[in-house]
Amino acid sequence: MYLSREEERMLAGEEGEAVRKSMEILVTLGDIYGAGRLIPVKSAQVSGVSYKTIGDAGLEYLEDLSADAKVRIRTTLNPPGMDMEQWKELYVPEDFAEKQMRILNAYAKMGIELSCTCTPYLAGNRPKAGEHLAWAESSAVSFANSVLGARTNREGGPSALAAAITGRTAEFALHLNENRKATVIFDVNFEPDYFDYAMLGVVAGRIAGGGVPYFRGIKQASEDSLKSLGAAMAASGSVALYHVEGITPEYGTALPDKDGVKRIPVEEGMLEDEREKITTADDVELITVGCPHSSPEELRNIAAFLRGKKRKDKVELWVYTSRVVKETEREAVDIIEQYGKVVADTCMVVSPLEVRFRSVGTNSGKAASYLPGLCHQNVLFADLKTLLGMVVE
Ligand code: F3S
Repeated sequence: MYLSREEERMLAGEEGEAVRKSMEILVTLGDIYGAGRLIPVKSAQVSGVSYKTIGDAGLEYLEDLSADAKVRIRTTLNPPGMDMEQWKELYVPEDFAEKQMRILNAYAKMGIELSCTCTPYLAGNRPKAGEHLAWAESSAVSFANSVLGARTNREGGPSALAAAITGRTAEFALHLNENRKATVIFDVNFEPDYFDYAMLGVVAGRIAGGGVPYFRGIKQASEDSLKSLGAAMAASGSVALYHVEGITPEYGTALPDKDGVKRIPVEEGMLEDEREKITTADDVELITVGCPHSSPEELRNIAAFLRGKKRKDKVELWVYTSRVVKETEREAVDIIEQYGKVVADTCMVVSPLEVRFRSVGTNSGKAASYLPGLCHQNVLFADLKTLLGMVVE
């Protein structure tokens, strides 16, 4: 792989140990994937933040690295395992909280913004079409590539951090035009509603695997619907880019010149079959909404549904969003907090939910895919109205 003089010096350790280690990660990845060079990246989104997922080994690694590491580009952070302000009310154990704070301090020392959200594009870091990024959060990767037309591979936590510390990434896969073409076409034979996108994502992700899906037949889709679709495909498969005909920015150049791309018809009934397959509970203790983190519109919709209704006693409601959106949507937040909690920073998957709960309801295809394995939960996968109907009369 070609390296400039400056990059050679960085790799030789002339700019410190953290830069040397980071260059080593990038060059190794570049060699494995056949990259010709390194390219500058505009921002990084680092994952591997929750103490629940990285444990003591991750904490130690980050504290060591933070001794001399500094990021060179705008770098935002994925959710940690707790809400920084109300972790006690959310049943987070004291020793977990102490270690979680040390992880966040290590990231802060490196100059990383403690944005603590999987939706940085809703919290002040919205990339432009064509910009190269090094993002690690899979749902954000999907949104940045597909909905915004930016370019990022699905980084791991360490490679996103290496990109943040050097300001570069290796140029391969989705940074190159030829790898952004569709590999499978889904003919959608109905007009999906908001929850349909979550179910469609689970179905399509499983079929597409690590490919690039292209959806036909969808006439309109809100950003929130696309956010939900992409997150579900990133979880049931490992989709990092998709196109929707007539809607997403690169659909016009997404179909390969030659025929032979597999076509899959999608009927409405396939979604309901998937929902039933995923659902393992019908009576739940907690309703969790906001995976990926709720947008302002999603918070307002929840508030509008709840406003003035009578609370039932049994089921708890936790709505997840970023700290930025929570602070700017005070009116909706105040209404929702009459019925449940608005949780910032963290999410249902990366927090220790299993300390308190055994069964949860969610309308997210990504959360429904991960909650059984990562949080030992039985899951009710259902639309928002059904879930909120369990909280209010
Ligand atoms: Fe975000 Fe957690 Fe879902 S990080 S995409 S809310 S699993």
